[in-house]
Amino acid sequence: MVSRVIPVDNFDLVIFGGTGDLARRKILPGLFRRFRSGQLPAEARVIGAARSEMDDAGYRQMIREAIAEFGSEEKEDADGIDAFLERLHYVAIDAMGEGGWKQLRDLMRDGVVRAFYFSVAPSLFGALAERLHEHRIADGESRIVVEKPFGRDLASAKALNATLAEHFDESQIYRIDHYLGKETVQNLMATRFGNVLFEPLWNSHYIDHIQITVAETVGVTGRGSYYDKSGAMRDMVQNHLMQLLCLIAMEPPSTYDADTVRDEKLKVIRALQPVEPHQVVRGQYEASQDGPSYREDAENPRSFTESFLALKCHIANWRWAKVPFYIRTGKRMKARSSEIAVVFKDLGHSIFEGDTARHRNILSIQLQPNEGMDLQVTIKEPGPGGMRLVDVPLDMTFADALGPDQEAPDAYERLIMDVIRGNQTLFMRGDEVEAAWAWTDPIIEGWEARNDVPKLYEAGTAGPEDAMMLMHRDGRRWREIKG
Ligand SMILES: NC(=O)c1ccc[n+]([C@@H]2O[C@H](COP(=O)([O-])OP(=O)(O)OC[C@H]3O[C@@H](n4cnc5c(N)ncnc54)[C@H](OP(=O)(O)O)[C@@H]3O)[C@@H](O)[C@H]2O)c1
Repeated sequence: MVSRVIPVDNFDLVIFGGTGDLARRKILPGLFRRFRSGQLPAEARVIGAARSEMDDAGYRQMIREAIAEFGSEEKEDADGIDAFLERLHYVAIDAMGEGGWKQLRDLMRDGVVRAFYFSVAPSLFGALAERLHEHRIADGESRIVVEKPFGRDLASAKALNATLAEHFDESQIYRIDHYLGKETVQNLMATRFGNVLFEPLWNSHYIDHIQITVAETVGVTGRGSYYDKSGAMRDMVQNHLMQLLCLIAMEPPSTYDADTVRDEKLKVIRALQPVEPHQVVRGQYEASQDGPSYREDAENPRSFTESFLALKCHIANWRWAKVPFYIRTGKRMKARSSEIAVVFKDLGHSIFEGDTARHRNILSIQLQPNEGMDLQVTIKEPGPGGMRLVDVPLDMTFADALGPDQEAPDAYERLIMDVIRGNQTLFMRGDEVEAAWAWTDPIIEGWEARNDVPKLYEAGTAGPEDAMMLMHRDGRRWREIKG
């Protein structure tokens, strides 16, 4: 089976910050892949905008090099890349200044989708929104895409939402969380809501607990000063891990429609109970032979910022009463691995005499390095020798069943195409972001008030010992972090 590419409407996509790291590493190589797949209309255009002085030719050369460096197999496609680069333009604009806006307005066409990607520091979002309106470049149909971080606490997120709302309706604002663009995250919804099998078991009667892990092997070298002001809670938990938790925990929406899905996610965030201090473990990686310590990377010898966080939380509703959600994320860990594990309860009674092992069904959803899903099931160990049971993974990615030609778009590619289509389902709504901060803020304020010092952990491990204890105390264990 070959994946179907559904063409999108003709568009002008302006990327503010079009010369930046994100644009060169993700956005433009992703757009090139969509171009190669035939999804972009022949007349679609991408307009890079930043302060640096450059003409179209200079920008095209910059993006040619970016695709060679960060694209994958497509860099070999010499004809394709030339045709793609012809779709690119560049305008020198300072978000805070007046130069360049008229040139941009003259470049924009009527009758096509207008989208503006704010791939710049959040401090520039307000100025960009204001000038797009002032210069009549954006109208009621235009879309804006904003990157994380969306605020650093509830107050700043509210202020940012209010600024954007002065010029754009909520239906025009696309807050990106690229985790939501991952194929497997959407497959999780298909698994839950497209099968009769799982939903009846998806509750506290059958599920023992949920684990969500996002582990990285890299440290914060190169972005230490930025990271030191945020830490794992703000950088990962408040957005990415929270979104994953919502998709696992939400009630079935009545339709797969942007606001219906987001209403259900919002209810989950609002039902999250406050987290007690003993339910949180913060950590900082130590120096090792492979690299410096967190404090050296952050260039802050007295830093109390966490590069690792584990916590246990509960959702106060009927479905999840007493089911713990354990989440952890960290830098410089033993493998790069993101996984959600739905751990079902032990069998109530075993009829197999002599089989004393614990058998549990576990639905595991891997987001990286490879996307996939498997269900751990118990079967008879093949061969003679009586009824011996063994747990095996049932591959639910069905790569074989669907054929080798499945080309899963990268998360950014998919999300940008959704912006052009006007589909907000996989983007965070303003009230969701605020609710997430409303839950996160007291946890952060708690450890700041206590002057909490993060526990040191050895680089290349699963984090501090206390994080193990968080589960051991409950008679449970974290799943192994495997790349
Ligand atoms: N990089 C990532 O992997 C990543 C991941 C998630 C989120 N983000 C977010 O995405 C945004 C961009 O990140 P980045 O890593 O690409 O940053 P970056 O490499 O520092 O690039 C910033 C871009 O903004 C432009 N810029 C700066 N000041 C400007 C101004 N006054 N007017 C117009 N353009 C201006 C810069 O070009 P000039 O200097 O020429 O103006 C450059 O193109 C940030 O909000 C970041 O938090 C990035």
